[in-house]
Amino acid sequence: MGMISKIIVVAGARPNFMKIALLVQQLRAIKSKQTILVHTGQHYDYQMSEVFFQELKIPKPDVFLNVGSGSHAVQTAKIMTEFEGVMLKEKPDLVIVAGDVNSTLACALVATKMNVKVAHIESGLRSLDRGMPEEINRLATDAISDYLFVSEASGLHNLKKEGADPKKVFYVGNVMIDALIANLPTIRKSGILKKLGVKPGSYAALTLHRPSNVDTKQALLEIYDILKNITSQLPLVYPIHPRTKSMIEKHGLKEKFAKLAHLKQVQPLGYIDFIQLVKNAKFMLTDSGGIQEESTYLGVPCLTMRENTERPSTIEEGTNKLMGRNKAHILKAVRQIMAGRWKKGRIPMYWDGKSTARIVKIIKK
Ligand code: UD1
Repeated sequence: MGMISKIIVVAGARPNFMKIALLVQQLRAIKSKQTILVHTGQHYDYQMSEVFFQELKIPKPDVFLNVGSGSHAVQTAKIMTEFEGVMLKEKPDLVIVAGDVNSTLACALVATKMNVKVAHIESGLRSLDRGMPEEINRLATDAISDYLFVSEASGLHNLKKEGADPKKVFYVGNVMIDALIANLPTIRKSGILKKLGVKPGSYAALTLHRPSNVDTKQALLEIYDILKNITSQLPLVYPIHPRTKSMIEKHGLKEKFAKLAHLKQVQPLGYIDFIQLVKNAKFMLTDSGGIQEESTYLGVPCLTMRENTERPSTIEEGTNKLMGRNKAHILKAVRQIMAGRWKKGRIPMYWDGKSTARIVKIIKK
């Protein structure tokens, strides 16, 4: 693939930051290569972005595109326009993107059209649900990338089915789990449980942000009903995503949610506090992609409020089960967890803290 000497690493939204933290450090340690970090600014609140840079010791971005929020077209187009300027100035040999957010696809598209190689971290994941914006981002990014770094076995299968050139595919494991493992000593020292007034194993935690769960009043009311039931059994800590917060307000449900006595709504947490919260939870209730993986690694039961997942290893091997917004299913699962009857799960292959090192080794060659 020719000599690579200058690399741009792209990050834009919260789930990207833990995926590139070690990568940037390890690439910078190879002095023969120059590594430039570009932050698109898709996420920009302190609690959605900067706190991750501080805690994960991510170097200050060399370039900040400041694109902010917008419709998919506006946000993606803004990132592309800004990123093209960066590409013209820096002339890298490789652009590395991670995950499935709009920043991932936007930068991959710009790079490939400028004849620059693209590496995609977390390649091959598929929910097979094209109603999800992330699924479009995954499909399109993989179709135009030159290095496909796969995190779990299903990724290999999906890429093969889509006819990807096997020479491009590398099964390296899960870089997000690298970050978790590397930060465990610090995570153990987090004081968040005390701060929230909860004891290990005596609470559950909730995250929600998928448009399908939070954008309509109907979906939010269904979720309210489920939360009402769960919080009558144990406290539920809820770091609330800005999107969900504004949707709850827009639909006039703020008061209603606030009245749930044992629903502890808090600001989005930083990485260290959040993982400590997951690690000690009785269970997680979530619609996130990453939390399905983190809970599997930590052996914590995970109830995923979606109809599908692009991370089937968390179900087949891990502690995760799909629930949708089905109240009966969720309450039954909660009963099983409370009674100590939940699968123990095992950690998928290559989720061993060495995935970033595998990627760097491949790029080095
Ligand atoms: C994005 C990703 C999603 C990822 C999620 C994690 C896409 C298509 N979606 O969704 O895959 O799981 O991030 O959070 O890329 N907002 C703020 N402050 C911020 C960021 C967002 O207030 O720092 C608000 C804005 O009102 C914005 C809304 O949240 O309109 C949605 O943000 P956006 O980046 O469009 O998508 P997410 O829902 O965060």
